[in-house]
Amino acid sequence: MQPGLRELIGPSALQTRILELAQAINEDYAGKDPLLVCVLNGAFMFTADLIRHLRIRTRIDFLSVSSYGAQTESSGVVAIRRDLTQSVAGEDVLVLEDIVDTGRTLEYLRRHLEAARPKSLRVCALLDKPSRREVQCDADYVGFSIANEFVVGYGLDFNQRYRELPAIYVLEQTES
Ligand code: IMP
Ligand code: MG
Repeated sequence: MQPGLRELIGPSALQTRILELAQAINEDYAGKDPLLVCVLNGAFMFTADLIRHLRIRTRIDFLSVSSYGAQTESSGVVAIRRDLTQSVAGEDVLVLEDIVDTGRTLEYLRRHLEAARPKSLRVCALLDKPSRREVQCDADYVGFSIANEFVVGYGLDFNQRYRELPAIYVLEQTES
């Protein structure tokens, strides 16, 4: 069995939607100076494309969480592997995530960041799999809602592979 890739969201659909997300963020944060938090590794490409369309003052920081082993199922155990270098106290924090699946990572992240007393805290996720939710935790901005399929590309991986692909693909098991 070899994994096959089926394109789900192409490069131009991605960029069109990301521009719309950036425009919504520009409006909602007009006159503010939010601290953007890119959740590594999956959100690096999304973050890089989104921030190019921002027209507000902003700063960016990175953190890294682990929730997956080498499977396509979440272990449910979330840990911070690399924390922020800037303080979030009193900041308008906007988290940039690749995908919300069970919601466990986001719930953990929200609790972790809320404990540092930001002025506000919102989440922008490129992808959302609402049918997979195990804890009630949603993003404030969502690029695309998708079905219960494992996706790769555009920053998202399977066993650290496929992150470089310019589109979102469903990972399928195919006979070979
Ligand atoms: P959750 O804690 O189950 O919501 O999982 C969130 C994290 O799992 C995301 O930030 C991704 O890193 C990873 N993840 C969830 N679904 C997928 C997928 O379909 N493809 C690749 N990574 C995924
Ligand atoms: Mg992630």
